[in-house]
Parts: sequence; C-alpha cells; structure tokens
Amino acid sequence: MGGIIFVTLANIFAVIPAQAVRNTIDIVAETVSLYPFFEKSKTETVFNTLFTKSVVYYGLLIVCMAIIRGIFMFLMRQTIIVMSRHIEYDQKNQIYAHYQTLPLSFYKKNNTGDLMARISEDVGKVRMYFGPAIMYGLNMITMTIICISFMFSIHPKLTLWALFPLPILSITIYYVNALIEKKSSEIQKSLSKISTFVQEAFSGIRVIKAYSREKDSEKRFSYAADEYFEKNLNLLKVNSIFSPSVMALVGLSIIIVVFIGGHEVINGNITAGNIIEFIMYISMLTWPFTSLGWVSSIIQRAEASQKRINEFLETKTDLISTHNYKNEISGSISFKNISLTYPESNTKALKNVSFEVNKNTSVSILGHTGSGKSTIANLMCRLYDPNNGEILIDNENIKSYDITSLRKQIGYVPQDVFLFSDTIKNNISFGSNFNDIEIENASKNADLHQNIIDFKDGYQTILGERGISISGGQKQRLSIARAIIKNPKILILDDCLSAVDTQTENTILQNLQGIMQNKTTIIISHRISSAKLADQIIVLDNGEIAEQGTHDELCSKNGIYAQMYIKSLTK
Ligand SMILES: Nc1ncnc2c1ncn2[C@@H]1O[C@H](COP(=O)(O)OP(=O)(O)OP(=O)(O)O)[C@@H](O)[C@H]1O
Ligand SMILES: [Mg+2]
Repeated sequence: MGGIIFVTLANIFAVIPAQAVRNTIDIVAETVSLYPFFEKSKTETVFNTLFTKSVVYYGLLIVCMAIIRGIFMFLMRQTIIVMSRHIEYDQKNQIYAHYQTLPLSFYKKNNTGDLMARISEDVGKVRMYFGPAIMYGLNMITMTIICISFMFSIHPKLTLWALFPLPILSITIYYVNALIEKKSSEIQKSLSKISTFVQEAFSGIRVIKAYSREKDSEKRFSYAADEYFEKNLNLLKVNSIFSPSVMALVGLSIIIVVFIGGHEVINGNITAGNIIEFIMYISMLTWPFTSLGWVSSIIQRAEASQKRINEFLETKTDLISTHNYKNEISGSISFKNISLTYPESNTKALKNVSFEVNKNTSVSILGHTGSGKSTIANLMCRLYDPNNGEILIDNENIKSYDITSLRKQIGYVPQDVFLFSDTIKNNISFGSNFNDIEIENASKNADLHQNIIDFKDGYQTILGERGISISGGQKQRLSIARAIIKNPKILILDDCLSAVDTQTENTILQNLQGIMQNKTTIIISHRISSAKLADQIIVLDNGEIAEQGTHDELCSKNGIYAQMYIKSLTK
C-alpha cells in the first residue's frame, strides 16, 4: 500500500516539471514576441528583471520537484524492493526446509542441478515479480494515467496521435525480450556446461593426469568455450536491435507531435510551450511503455518458476509415521517377510527376507556385491519402506516411530563416507554438542585419535575442499567415530572397514566389542574376519537369505560361508 502511494507521489512530482517547463517556454516565447515594444523604453529593465525572475523561479521549481521525486522514488524502492527481498528470503527458507523433509528416493529421482535451480534461480524470478515487476507495473499505470489525463486536457487529438506508436513499442519490447530471454537461457545452459566440465576436470585431475588426458581435456574445454562465445554474440545481435527500436518509435512519436502540434500552434489552439510539454510527457511515457513489455515477460517467467517451485513443495514424503512414538528403544529387531523393489530402478533388492536380532546382540550380514546388504541398512534407518512385510523394533512396527527420534537412536555408518568441509571435531560431533573428551573417546575407539593428533591442527584440522584430504581408511574411521559418539541403541556398520588393513580392522573390532555390549549391532561386510565375531551371521545371495546361523554352525554346513571361510584362511 505504501508502495502505491510513493509511486503515485513520485510520478506526480515527475510530471509537474513538464508544466513548469511549458510555462517557462511560454514566458520566453511571449517575451521574445513582446521584446521589440519594450526595447530601449524605460520599462525595459523592469521587464528584464521580471522575465529573469520568472525563469529562475521555474528553474528552481523544477530542481525542487526533481529532489522531491527522488525522495519518493527512494521510499518506493525501499518499500517494494525490500518487501520482495523478504519474500525471497522466506521462500528460500521454506523450500530448503521442505527439501529436508523429502525422502532419499526424491533425491535419486531429481538431480542436484534441478534442486539448486529451484531454490536459487526460480526463487529469484519470483522475486522479480514481487519486486521490480510490481514496482514498474505500478509506475507504469500511475504514470500513464497522470500523463495521459494532462495530455488529454490540453489537446485530445494530438494526444491520440502522439500515443499511437507507444503500444507498438510495448509489443516490440515484449517480443524482443522473449528472444533475449531465450538466448540468455541458452547462454546459461552453455555456461553451466562449462562449469560442470571445469568442476569435473578439477576434481578428477588425478585421473586426467594419470591417463595423460590434459590435451584432450583442453580441447573439450575450448569446444565448450566456443559454443558459449557464439551464443553470446548471438545475444549481442538481438540486444543491439533493442535500443534502436525504442529510439525509432519514440522519435516517431515526437515527430508526430511536432508536426501536428506545429499546425495547431499556427492555428492558435495551443502554445509552443505545450509542444515541449507534450514531448516531455512522451519521454516520460517511454520507460513505462518499454517496461510494459518487460514486466509482462517477468510475470510470465515468475509464473513458470512458481509452478516449478510448487511442484517440489507439493511433493510430500511418503515416509509417514503412524503413531509418532518417541520413546527410547531397547533395540530388538525383527524383519518379517521383507521384500523391496527400488522404485527408481525396478531392481528386486530383497526377496522375502526374515530374521530376528535380540537386543544387545550382534548380527553380521555377508554376501556378494549387489546382494542387498546395504538395502537392509536403508530399511533399518527408514530411508525406504518395504513393499511387503513388516519390520518390528521392540515388537512395534517401525512405521509407528517418529522418524527423527528413531534415526537419532540409530548409529549408521554408511558405505560411502561423506565428510563436510569443516573441522574434524565438527565432522565427528556433527551438529550435536559433545565435549572434547567424548569426541576423543569416540575417535580412540575408531582407532583414529593417533592420526588426528599427528595433524598440525589436531581436531581443528579442516577437511574437504578447502582443507586437507585424508585417506580412505581415515575417512571410514571418522565415520565410525561419528556414529558411536551418539551412543546409539542400534549400530549399523555398512562395510565400513573395507579400506583399512587387517591389523587396524582387528583393533577397531576389539574396541567395538566393548561398545557393542549394550547395543544391537549390524555389521555388514565382505570379510569373514569382521563377520565371524557376531552372535549370528546371515549370508545374503541375490536378495535372499542363503544361510543363517553362528560361525560354528555355518562352518559345519559346508555352504557358501564355509567356502568363504576356507578361502580367507588360505589367503
Ligand atoms: N537407491 C537405489 N535405487 C535403485 N536401485 C538400487 C538402489 N540401491 C541399490 N540398488 C540396487 O539394489 C541391489 C542391491 O543393492 P545393495 O546396495 O543393497 O547391495 P549390497 O549388497 O550393499 O552391495 P555392495 O556389497 O556392493 O555394497 C543392487 O542390484 C543395486 O543395483
Ligand atoms: Mg552395499
């Protein structure tokens, strides 16, 4: 509302100078025509001062109006543009918060680029609607009303003549803008191609160098750069029609005013000042009419963007808890006839899997690659829901638990470790408040402490892109520390010792023995050495349980496990 008032006031103060100019011109014209009568007469000086005074008066008036107009324009921007920034801020937060609630399957379906585009570019486009589009739209409406009504009051016919090129201007701008938009989005695409290429080339620099593909990489870059260059030139061409076409149409309007207005002045219907006033009105209307085309394309884009944003906002997570139980769990797990087909790939990852794990005991899951081991971990953390069967935790369906509360009580070391660009300390405590002793203990148990204190900055060492990189085994151990520091009731270790040597593996497993005492532990592994310590062993084969039992039981069976065991001994 404040915005509308400021826009109107700013425009009124923009229009008044036109009238002041008209008066000045008329005074000048009158003076010039009357001057011969006063020349050399006594009243000449009186006449001169009167003339100068009125010109100075109007001059000052114009300056004052410009200042006042400036102030109102400032206030207008302050209200409308600031509001649009607030809306942008809220919308970004809302989308980010919503992203966080969406399940893993959502992230598998949509690529990161798309997620990023909707939270940045699309929000930006919607902001353009709430900010500039509304501001210029209001500006256009009030300016048009004010100018045209003044123009009509002076000379209706001349007004119609003067205005007729302006709608053509709007339409031209609209189309030129659409063209510019199209070219710009092509440029944007080719730019993002370049950045993806460069990013990949830098992160994969080791592979590129090792395979001596530098020249090839260079060629591919210059190819992408050529494309970008050409598209930019294309845009430049379109851009260069832009201002000449505006100028031509405005010029046409002015010529019409001068021509028809001139006739009217001769006929004595209007004054010379009126013509100047008209020309000023036309130049004031140029920008609003130009912005009409621009504003309508902003509105269209904002509409498309809001649609894309809504599409994600309306996607709701399908992982819903039925009772929101937040109680502490004791950790007994039971899988009953679980089957899961991943919706994204249609892979039947688990087929009719049933097993039980009592609280405070351990189970290890063994099997070839792709046999469905990680899938069991995914189901335990409720990253997916099974298609058939039910998972019980403490004899309660996993769906009854509040997801956040459940996940807080599970320590999950995923197969692919992810570390954030942050200190080691923060990577271990990961958002929770743990004191230094707790952090140290966790890393001691993960056999990482010694490595950390060898770094110059110790626990404050920054990891990731801007920091140092640590070895694969160190990463895995850091990930273990992150899980055990939570002291979870259920601990899931997904192949987390694959990158450490057998000796380190033994040390960690030894340390884990103590930690595992009051926890239910699921150890997923390829190695017998990790598996055999568990109270029970499950061998998965192609999504089905092939064998199940203790180490001794399975050894006596002479099945897959026994063969693996014998192989591991002879290694
Ligand atoms: N998110 C996913 N979307 C679609 N398919 C998946 C997904 N995760 C796994 N799969 C498929 O499900 C099957 C089981 O995968 P899973 O990750 O459970 O195997 P795994 O036993 O952990 O193997 P590995 O030992 O190599 O880690 C595989 O065929 C895999 O391609
Ligand atoms: Mg796996």
